Amino acid sequence: MLYAGSFDPITNGHLDLIERSARLCDLLIVGVTENLSKSARYPVADRLRMLRLAVAHLANVETESFTGLLADYAKRRNVEAVVRGLRATMDFEYELQMAHMNARLYENGIETLFLMSSPAYSFVSSSLVSEVFTLGGDVEGLVPGPVLEYMKSIR
Ligand code: PNS
Repeated sequence: MLYAGSFDPITNGHLDLIERSARLCDLLIVGVTENLSKSARYPVADRLRMLRLAVAHLANVETESFTGLLADYAKRRNVEAVVRGLRATMDFEYELQMAHMNARLYENGIETLFLMSSPAYSFVSSSLVSEVFTLGGDVEGLVPGPVLEYMKSIR
């Protein structure tokens, strides 16, 4: 299974999705890439480092970055499904569009699966975490501890 996203930075909401998805498959690949419709705060290399710090305790999770279409990466990695998280109705339109577009591009029956975010993280987004952190606000508990340390170290 593949969980792809921009992870800019990875939040506890993402990590919850990763832990739950990893329980459902033998191998979960977590792929970091650019979201061309957002301007990134952290370069992909830093995002990958933070992702690796966050998932170090998970034996069946593999991480890497990729470029190009998610559909091409999913085909290359031979996955059967791509998982995405849904926090609330605000995510639905965007996710529906992407799922339909990807279904068109996949060709070989790869499915998009959705997991609902845990209520505890339904308000957490990378962009808000990033904004609050940049302005000196407290984001402890919203990102994994080692990730927060990393964010502070490269501030
Ligand atoms: O975590 P995000 O920012 O919501 O993830 C969005 C992401 C990275 C999965 C999406 O932007 C994406 O798939 N980018 C790769 C390029 C691509 O395939 N674009 C077409 C999507 S239908």
